Amino acid sequence: MTQRTKTQVAIVGAGPAGLLLSHLLHLNGIESVIVEAKSREYCEARVRAGVLEHGTVDCLTQAGVGERLHREGLRHSGFEMHFRGQRHRVALDELTGGKAIVVYGQQEVVKDLIARRLADGGDIRFDADRVAVQGIESDSPRLCFDHGGITQEIACDYVIGCDGFHGICRAQIPANQIKTYDRIYPFAWLGILAEAPPAQHELIYAHHERGFALFSMRSPKVTRLYVQCDPNDSADNWSDDRIWGELTLRLATDDGWRPNVGSIIQKSITPMRSFVAAPMRYRRLFLAGDAAHIVPPTGAKGMNLAVSDVIVLSRALEMFYKQASTHGLDRYSEIALRRVWKGERFSWHMTSMLHNFPEHDPFHEQMQLAELDYYTGSVAGRTTLAENYVGLPIEVI
Ligand code: FAD
Ligand code: DHB
Repeated sequence: MTQRTKTQVAIVGAGPAGLLLSHLLHLNGIESVIVEAKSREYCEARVRAGVLEHGTVDCLTQAGVGERLHREGLRHSGFEMHFRGQRHRVALDELTGGKAIVVYGQQEVVKDLIARRLADGGDIRFDADRVAVQGIESDSPRLCFDHGGITQEIACDYVIGCDGFHGICRAQIPANQIKTYDRIYPFAWLGILAEAPPAQHELIYAHHERGFALFSMRSPKVTRLYVQCDPNDSADNWSDDRIWGELTLRLATDDGWRPNVGSIIQKSITPMRSFVAAPMRYRRLFLAGDAAHIVPPTGAKGMNLAVSDVIVLSRALEMFYKQASTHGLDRYSEIALRRVWKGERFSWHMTSMLHNFPEHDPFHEQMQLAELDYYTGSVAGRTTLAENYVGLPIEVI
């Protein structure tokens, strides 16, 4: 037996993109259902991004879900770049007219959004199996899935694929209607969470002859660190001693600074890839966030791009439901992609400038150092880094 229901917008995926879209639609009186493959606990525990651009913070604040973020998030008005044993600061606030970023774990944003959706009576179906989009060629698409042993079908006006890079929605678009752009990098990041007070209050991106390292944090007691590693490596090959040895070597500066060491409570390896699928729409199916594009994490753009997509898309859906106009929906992909490509460029540039590439010769290494010198040593260079880091403007329809 199939249980049939209806909604206005059916959303696949309860990551930051799907949850925020559902919440923004609700604020505008638009009904949605989120269908998520994993459990609520799993979604709330997934450790990933940590840096929120100023526009992401503004959006969450204006949408009424920024209360804990403002209480517990760490506002940063600058970050550092370390190379050749020296520290170089990029003063975000001074270079961008007072803008900053906030360090607040993605899973905390997810927890806040899930709690708010459920408090507002939102419909999130966790633990859904065999999720499939049907009727994609028609004007009445449907989302089908198994939930609690029952086959369900949700008829809707639009399906929004917020199901991340490995989701099912992007593959619904016929191959001749979508173009993909892809770059796989020859390295990965080993990321750790450590019970150690952050040894300084701002982030550090470090370039070193042994490879890239990143110093970040989650709270006054927990440091978040990443170290460049081989893409085929396993986290099991990295003992705690080896991790701290590499991190200390790559991050330390000649003035004696080094990260505080503590017990490692989580470690995992993240591959590095740039990917864009365009357009981000096929008929009544729209893609948002990682379902349409991913960036290497250097520069912290992934979740922020998911948020800006959803801001544009929620406005477009509002125009459809309030003014019966498809103008916004027709322009969604073009507007979202303009910002996505700039995020892709910044992430690619930061990745290229900061990592060790196996194919690099001594000339390339000097080019990287000259680039780092230029971007940190000139006001124009630092301004370029700063305005991209705090987040470029979000164009709305
Ligand atoms: P996801 O968060 O991937 O959510 C997709 C959801 O869809 C998931 O819940 C998934 O379970 C669900 N799903 C998948 N398939 C199905 C299906 N078939 N049916 C139903 N549901 C499905 N970004 C930043 O902005 N700043 C950072 O500092 C940053 N650091 C990062 C560090 C690391 C180590 C990593 C891995 C990523 C980082 N990112 C960062 C990127 C960021 O985490 C992603 O861009 C972000 O999660 C994208 O959100 P999303 O909602 O589009 O997708
Ligand atoms: C973090 C992750 C990033 O990719 C980044 O560029 C900065 C910080 C983090 O997890 O804190």
